[in-house]
Amino acid sequence: MSEHNIESTLHEDRHFPPHADFIKKTSITTEKLTALYKSAEIDNQAFWADQARTELDWQTPFKTTLDSSNAPFYRWFPDGKLNASYNCLDRQLAQNADKTAIIFEGDAGDVQHISYRELHTRVCTFANALKAQGISKGDRVIIYMPMIAEAVIAMQACARIGAIHSVVFGGFSASSLKDRIEDTTAKLVITADGGHRGGKIIQLKSTTDTALESGCDSVEKVIVFKRTGHDIAMQAGRDIWWSDAEQDQNAECEPVWVEATHPLFILYTSGSTGKPKGIQHSTGGYLLNAITSMRWVFDIQPSDVFWCTADVGWITGHSYVAYGPLATGATIVIFEGVPTYPDAGRFWDMCQRHQVSIFYTAPTAIRALMKAGADIPNSYDLSTLRLLGTVGEPINPEAWMWYHTVIGKEKCPVVDTWWQTETGAHMIAPVPSVTVTKPGSCTRALPGIDAALVNQEGIEITEANQGGYLVIRQPWPSMVQTVWGDDQRYKDSYWPYFDGKYYLAGDSARRDEEGYFWIMGRIDDVLNVSGHRLGTMEIESALVAHPRVAESAVVGKPHDIKGEAVVAFVVLNGDRPDGGIDEALTEELRTWVGEQIGAIAKPDEIRYSDNLPKTRSGKIMRRLLRNIAKGEEITQDTSTLENESILPQLEGKA
Ligand code: WTA
Repeated sequence: MSEHNIESTLHEDRHFPPHADFIKKTSITTEKLTALYKSAEIDNQAFWADQARTELDWQTPFKTTLDSSNAPFYRWFPDGKLNASYNCLDRQLAQNADKTAIIFEGDAGDVQHISYRELHTRVCTFANALKAQGISKGDRVIIYMPMIAEAVIAMQACARIGAIHSVVFGGFSASSLKDRIEDTTAKLVITADGGHRGGKIIQLKSTTDTALESGCDSVEKVIVFKRTGHDIAMQAGRDIWWSDAEQDQNAECEPVWVEATHPLFILYTSGSTGKPKGIQHSTGGYLLNAITSMRWVFDIQPSDVFWCTADVGWITGHSYVAYGPLATGATIVIFEGVPTYPDAGRFWDMCQRHQVSIFYTAPTAIRALMKAGADIPNSYDLSTLRLLGTVGEPINPEAWMWYHTVIGKEKCPVVDTWWQTETGAHMIAPVPSVTVTKPGSCTRALPGIDAALVNQEGIEITEANQGGYLVIRQPWPSMVQTVWGDDQRYKDSYWPYFDGKYYLAGDSARRDEEGYFWIMGRIDDVLNVSGHRLGTMEIESALVAHPRVAESAVVGKPHDIKGEAVVAFVVLNGDRPDGGIDEALTEELRTWVGEQIGAIAKPDEIRYSDNLPKTRSGKIMRRLLRNIAKGEEITQDTSTLENESILPQLEGKA
């Protein structure tokens, strides 16, 4: 937890009421929101049941709203049946068939518009192709794709036939891909020859080949979309081109109606121990909150062009690219490339050209673009923007203010949305037509979400500005169902205290005098690098898997753009390098971690020492390491250290 954060936000008292222009267009008035809160307060389940009947099309309506008989394995709408793809696509055909569903822009600037009718046809055709490859309800399918429209088509096609997708971010290494394939025992992998990012080709097929070389015995077929056209190897009998798989497939595909609790997808996320957890989400409850948050937090309107910049490899790209916006009939932008290519004006250029009205990105991107200067965004016409959002990590007030003034021209509300892979959708966030925002605060919990702060004993903290554990006290529809294949880990990770009564988010927070939430950071050993969760354990395991590394401890330190940087303390097998410097080895270890996990996990800094600071009982003193990494004065008692003489080594002074 960063003390620095508490300091800097405590003094923030600027208030921003919604702009009058925004209020004029909204469908969520203060009266409507008050009524929503009120009905949720009176009867939480009746409230969600009502939302589920209004917002979703059911093939078999549910009779039971929530089955809590096997808590904390809550089952929402258990006897109802529906299909997620039907709710996203077929519902639009009557009125919106010709409306643009997807505006796709490639890294090189190539643009495609896909209407709802066309998207429906493409999803159905590909769903039939999946069936022809032997995929049916409940089978797991890995999607390892660039950020192109076909990634969403693949997800929707799985949903259409009840197959469970697990998207693996294209930046993950062969080894991370392999872990996920093996954990899900997937039958099929959907990938591409490659993708374009910042003018370079990302090798996806060859990485898939490496992952499949040893193990992954469950995989029978690999479908390959041709994106780059560069040379790749195709293995006869296993690999098939996307276009060949679609040959002669029908453009109609009857949706497979599944139970609301049927898993829609599994998405892996880092925890503080062990390998990444396969977060399993339901179909009905998940989709419901993806939709309600589109309405309440994004105020989605028929004329909006909605751009969430997240990759489909993360939860944000699931809820706010692949599902939520389509289920509300929105026009979305999908972008293959990076914000700084060909220059730092790319996002703003795209907002102008595609007339984006709602823009949702991460603080790390805002900080990077802020560094490039206001002249760049000022040279574009951003007048179509009406709402801005952020997600992934606490946003520093300075970046919030820049976003609000330079991008939003002081007329676009900024919604700072707190949520997690596990929560499925926004939990604490402003309702932009109503909420008075404060830079750095995600404000209040949404209707029906019972968020609170408690102390270690589970007692609610009511005093203003006291830090505590962020918990959610009542189940909500889009909640994680379990950790795939590991019910015990689900219980241990999220319901460890308070008699299993409250969902433990793993974040600490405080509430100010007006009850607004201010997220302080993680309470566990999870880093947040550029808005992505990385377990320190994962990086440590990767390091010690290198033959030259005996032991390692990884901590975070504040970073201007990435939020947190990865600092690794390493003990080698054999001698410590002279003066603690060995640039070649440092580069080798960074590359190694990149290969083991993915480029985002590469340590920014590696410090070598003869051993690690441990207590007499052998526990690594992580807090001390965090202080050292930040270059802070050591104030704590170090006399219990096995070997005090290593301190200068850890500090990089010897
Ligand atoms: C952090 C991303 C502060 C938090 C949707 C959480 C945030 C973790 C915010 C989840 C925010 C996310 N303000 N912190 N608005 N949004 N976080 O699973 O620590 O990738 O627990 O989901 O990111 O990250 P995840």
